Formats: sequence, structure tokens, C-alpha cells
Amino acid sequence: MTVSIEFGSGDFAASKADVLALVVTEGGFEKQRAFAHLDQALGGALAAHVATAQFKGRLDDLLDVPTLGRLGVRRILLAGAGPKRGLGTTRLRSAVATATRAAINVPSLAVVLSEIVSVPELRAVAEGVGLGAYGFTKYFTGDRAPKKPLTGVAIHLAKGHGNAGEKRAVEQGLAVASAVNLARDAVNEPPNVLTPEALAETARKIAKEGKLKVTVLDEKAIRKAGMNLHFAVGQGSANPPRLIHLTYEPKRPKATIALVGKGLTFDSGGLCIKPAPGMGDMKSDMGGAAAVLGVMAAIAAIRPNVTVHGIVAAAENMPDGNAYRPADVFTSLDGKTVEIINTDAEGRLVLADALAYTRKLEPDVMIDAATLTGACLVALGKNCSAFYTADDKLARRFAAAADDAGEQFWRMPLLEELREQLSSDIADLKHTGDRYGGSISAALFLREFVGDTPWIHCDIAGPVLSDRPKGMYPKGATGHPVLTFLSMVEAAGK
Ligand code: BES
Ligand code: MN
Ligand code: ZN
Repeated sequence: MTVSIEFGSGDFAASKADVLALVVTEGGFEKQRAFAHLDQALGGALAAHVATAQFKGRLDDLLDVPTLGRLGVRRILLAGAGPKRGLGTTRLRSAVATATRAAINVPSLAVVLSEIVSVPELRAVAEGVGLGAYGFTKYFTGDRAPKKPLTGVAIHLAKGHGNAGEKRAVEQGLAVASAVNLARDAVNEPPNVLTPEALAETARKIAKEGKLKVTVLDEKAIRKAGMNLHFAVGQGSANPPRLIHLTYEPKRPKATIALVGKGLTFDSGGLCIKPAPGMGDMKSDMGGAAAVLGVMAAIAAIRPNVTVHGIVAAAENMPDGNAYRPADVFTSLDGKTVEIINTDAEGRLVLADALAYTRKLEPDVMIDAATLTGACLVALGKNCSAFYTADDKLARRFAAAADDAGEQFWRMPLLEELREQLSSDIADLKHTGDRYGGSISAALFLREFVGDTPWIHCDIAGPVLSDRPKGMYPKGATGHPVLTFLSMVEAAGK
């Protein structure tokens, strides 16, 4: 479903929308004009309800107040954005998404911002609307199919705003949200539908709509190019692998950034098959690829002054008579030979070849995103991704981008002493190390294929899915880390 945003005009208390959401900050919002205005229209009932419910306006707290026929709108949502001090894009996006999610079953919503917001903040508000309005409902029929989904949103600003720059910010915010939602859709889509070729088809569609260049290598071309690790991972599946390459090139680029995504449309573990409980979650093993495609769609809309390559290594990891096995040895695109230890460590294999491919494009930096290790979940939990880089300056830039995006990342060390775990008796490299430090040894394996190109590796195994709706993330696919990568690209273009 798509939402459209208009600027509200006139008295918002007289709004004809079904639901009105007022974004409030902690501490004294009762005295703000917008709140007082609504409270007056309800004869003091709003303030009374706030007191009874002990609503304080903490971040992502939501108070749903029925107006019982006393106003045109049927419900007022008070959406907490936390302390007024330091309120910025991250908290606004989150609060607006939380409020919007509570209104997805009504056709129209009015969002009232009691604070004056800057143009970047207005973009974040529009992102929040688009992100909050997301639902994956295509497989529901009958009673479960949504009846009157949210389609119309009006934003009421503090004063007589709504100039061209602000309108553009709203359009950009909606475009960014729909790019994140595209990534979410790809992750939520079942693996019988979302095959490597279906991922390639999605990329072709993004390219066509956004005027990007697209190249897709099929299984024969992957083998011919010498990407034997990528080919090996896909050889046990009836759904053959694909290497997808999208390019956005502006007239006067200030930098070149390459984004690389792990695209395992399903990871059964292969011959080293995974246990049944939780195996279904491995439809999300293309979360890195989905994010790369999402960022490319956003970039096509925003058109920053940066050349951006989006590379996706897509494959399905299955057990089969043709499947690759432990003890197999393959020569990578880079030339290094690799001894296979555990066929469930397939992500680092497709990425090794994809990184070697990307290096040849000579980007200023390459950043990969991969649902790479269970060990990363053990280390950082479900809501925080790991990032690795040898370059401290790059690490600071990346951390700032994640902060701006409101996504959780923590830098992890490329511990030299773990490197020896990857030495093999019969090839240049073994592809897995010990159980302990498993996210780090996976990163060290990838490092073998990046050469001198500045590089950041992101292990997104946790945040790609969420157990419950929270802030800008719904339950299920989150679209993480589209916003962080986009922020990194936009910062490089300024
Ligand atoms: N896709 C998985 C990692 C994963 C696990 C992501 C759980 C999200 C949730 C990856 O391909 C994998 O299976 N990794 C193995 C590596 C091991 C065999 C060295 C793992 O983490 O167990
Ligand atoms: Mn695996
Ligand atoms: Zn995997």
C-alpha cells in the first residue's frame, strides 16, 4: 500500500481525518499550544486522560484516546518522542512510525507536529509515516485481507509552513520509506517465490524505474568469470545463483561507494543441514542483498553526487546430489584456494567472490551487509549489528551514519590472533575457524579478499528481523541497514 502526504491547512482540531496523531515531547507538553488547543476542544478531557493513564511522552509511548463524538476525528494518538532537548531526526522518525502503525487500519491520518521542525526533520517525519504504514499482507485472503488501509496522511506544521523545500523533503522521505519497504518485502517474501532469479528481477525493475544500469550474471557466467565459491554454494539448488550489479552514476561524482549484499534466498545449511526449529527464519538470509537493493532504489530517487555500485551475490544453499561438500576445494575469483569445512558457512564464500569482483571497480570504499553468523547474535543480541573495519576514520564516518539513521551498530575488532584458525593443510585457506569468536573469524576470512580497498563489513544477523514492532521497525523484516547505508552515501555527496 502507498500513502500520500499533504500539508494540512486550517484548524487541525477540525480535521476530517479518522485519526489525529500529535507528536509530543516529555516534560510539559500539556502546556504546548497544540495540546492545549485539542484539550480545549474536548473540554479538558484530554489532559484528564493523560493524567489518569500517567502518559509522560517517553520515546515510542503511545496514548490512544477516543474522542466519543466530540470531535471530527474519532481518535487522538499522543505519540511520545522523549525529551525535548536533543530531539532530532531519529526520535521524530520513530515516534511518527509508532503513531502511524497504530492507524494502519483507517484510511486517513493527520499528523500534528507541535515543535517547529527543520527540513531534515521533516524528511524524517515523512520517513516515519511511510515506515509505520508498512504491512506485509499480500498472502491474506477473506477476513484477514486489509479492508480500508491507510492511504492519506496530512501533516500539520507549527505555523504557515509548506514551502517548496519542505514539500521536497516530504517527497524524499516517502521515497526513502518505500525503498526500505521494498527491502522488507523482499525479506518477508517466502523462499519458494523469492529465488535468486526473482531477486535479479527485482533489481531489473529498480533499474528500469530509477534509470540505473543493471547487469545480471547467471550461473554459467558466474562460473565463466571464475567465481567458483559463489557457484559452489548454489550448485545444490534447483534455483541457480545470480550475481547482480546495479550502478548509479551522477554527472559530477564526489566519491564512489560500492555496497555488497549476501543474498541467500534460503539457507538450509546444505549437506551440513541446520536443525528444523528456526530453519524457516533462513528465508531472511538475503537481508543484506535486500538492503543493497533498497539503498539503490532510494538513491535513484534522491540522486546524490556519489557513484554507487550495488552488488548482490544471490544463491540458495541446499542439500542435493550436486551440492558442494565439506573437504571440497575451490579456487576463488581472487585466485586463493579455499577448503570447505562446513557447508553452512556459505555466506562468506559468496561474499568472498563478490568482494573480489567489487574491488575491480576501484571504489573509494566497499561496504558489505550480511546475515553472516549466529555468533554475532550471541555477541550483540538481536537488535544490534556488528561492523568491522581496519580504518578508524572510516569507522567514525560509519558510526555517525548509523547514528543519523537511528540504527544500532557496534564496532568489533579484527583480532589478528584468530587468523591462524583459517590456515588449511591442503589449500590457501580453510573457510571456518572455532566456534568462539565466530563473527570475528568470518570477518577475517572476508578480509582475505578485499585487497587494499577500504572496506567495512556488517554482520546484520540480528536486526534483519524483529520479534515485535518497536519504533520504526515492524515485526518481521525491518529493512535494516538501508537507512545507515543511505546516510553514509548522502554524507559522501555533500
Ligand atoms: N545465515 C547463517 C547465519 C545466521 C544464523 C543468521 C542465525 C541469522 C540467524 C549463516 O550462513 C550460518 O549458518 N553461519 C554458521 C557458520 C558456522 C557454520 C561457522 C553459524 O553461524 O552457525
Ligand atoms: Mn549458513
Ligand atoms: Zn547463511
